[in-house]
Amino acid sequence: MLFLDSSDPKEIRDLGAWGVIAGITTNPLILAREAGGADLEKRMAEVVAASQGHVSVELTTEDEASMLAEARRYHAWSPQRMCIKVPFSEAGLRVTRALSTAGVATNVTCLMSFNQAYLAALAGGTYVSLFSGRIRDMGYDARPIIAETRAQIDREGLPSKIIVGSVRHIIDVNEALFAGAHIVTVPPAILRKMLHNPKTDETIREFNDAWANRGK
Ligand code: E4P
Repeated sequence: MLFLDSSDPKEIRDLGAWGVIAGITTNPLILAREAGGADLEKRMAEVVAASQGHVSVELTTEDEASMLAEARRYHAWSPQRMCIKVPFSEAGLRVTRALSTAGVATNVTCLMSFNQAYLAALAGGTYVSLFSGRIRDMGYDARPIIAETRAQIDREGLPSKIIVGSVRHIIDVNEALFAGAHIVTVPPAILRKMLHNPKTDETIREFNDAWANRGK
């Protein structure tokens, strides 16, 4: 399954029309880059209107009380659609447990290891987000971490779904899915690259030229 890693309503609408995107992830860096000083509530309302499925919006506070207050505010914007992205930490685990108990969808984020992803799943995260590109930045292979997390989730029957983010190349998407990711969240530029293959273009051209020149 694919999510789109973007907060751009136009991109979300254009690419959503392909029928391949089941949800949206954003983060403060993406929003700062794409939306600058825009009002967050207004921007997220546009993202929700342009998409389907869960829309992840990330908490930017770091103590438990502030995180819960921030989460409640975001959740109220669209209770069925907003998914609260909780940065992984001790406070993050407590917030994840509280939100999950209250029936609020969560996406525990910035996960770099099996241990963190396992704790996030045990705490009740709806989604647990492993960051493949950033794991590779540290010199580690993300594939065994994804595979081991998936195996543990399956062994214990935990309801969490693994999202693999921090995708930099098409091969990251393929490897994450083969390793057992339930979902890969892809930046728009990578999704567009997944469309193209020169042999496909050449084949379609050959077929259509043959049809156009039939009987000549
Ligand atoms: C996923 O949920 C994150 O938004 C994202 O994929 C982080 O990727 P980055 O490493 O490109 O910042």
